[in-house]
Amino acid sequence: MTVHIGAQPGQIAETVLLPGDPYRARWAAETFLSGAQLVNDVRGMLGFTGTWKGNRVTIQGSGMGMPSLSIYVNELIRDYSAETLIRIGSCGAMQDRVKLRDVILAMTASTLSTPSRGIFRELNFAPCANWTLLRAAAAAAEAKGVAAHVGGIYSSDVFYDERPDLNEQMIRHGILGVEMEAAELYTLAARFGKRALAVLTVSDHLITGEALPSADRERSFGDMVEIALEAAFT
Ligand code: HPA
Repeated sequence: MTVHIGAQPGQIAETVLLPGDPYRARWAAETFLSGAQLVNDVRGMLGFTGTWKGNRVTIQGSGMGMPSLSIYVNELIRDYSAETLIRIGSCGAMQDRVKLRDVILAMTASTLSTPSRGIFRELNFAPCANWTLLRAAAAAAEAKGVAAHVGGIYSSDVFYDERPDLNEQMIRHGILGVEMEAAELYTLAARFGKRALAVLTVSDHLITGEALPSADRERSFGDMVEIALEAAFT
């Protein structure tokens, strides 16, 4: 047990999927895993461990934003020996060609700051995905016929953004979408020598203002979970 995770030693798999939303962790575990068992409910941040095609997997909520994700990922790596960590979450699209329900595979995650910023001081560290996972996820998306965009994303500290000028620069520099967690996940994976990837479903569009109706979300989120699982075990 750690400060924020109540699982016993050995109850967390080496491969961990990280949705922001703990209810999505439950939905994904019930939908895709066999024999899923609740292994964490501290603060309601649900985590489940089961198997997928015979491979042990944990699906653990990370909460919203980099400070929250940082707590869970630090404990998963330091105390439970997680090796492969894949964020599964939603994002806002920042390019016209990226449509609602499309999947974005985040090759890099630009950011203004992360909880790790203090380490780097004046250096702009470049958080990037694990290549093996990224390549496998792209292949899995293609095999499923899911439109997947591979490129840079932006990990923001705010959902209610007061910096439209910054979004304009992100869009101008080809950033595909915005979310709030991947840059810290990639930075921690780099620090501890682990594998990380963010597989994201476009739930809203910053240019067109469209948003996915909640009834529509489940199916497209399902594609994302399957892509993450395929990538982890390729
Ligand atoms: N901003 C930040 N995070 C998000 C967004 C957004 O527009 N959509 C989904 N996650």
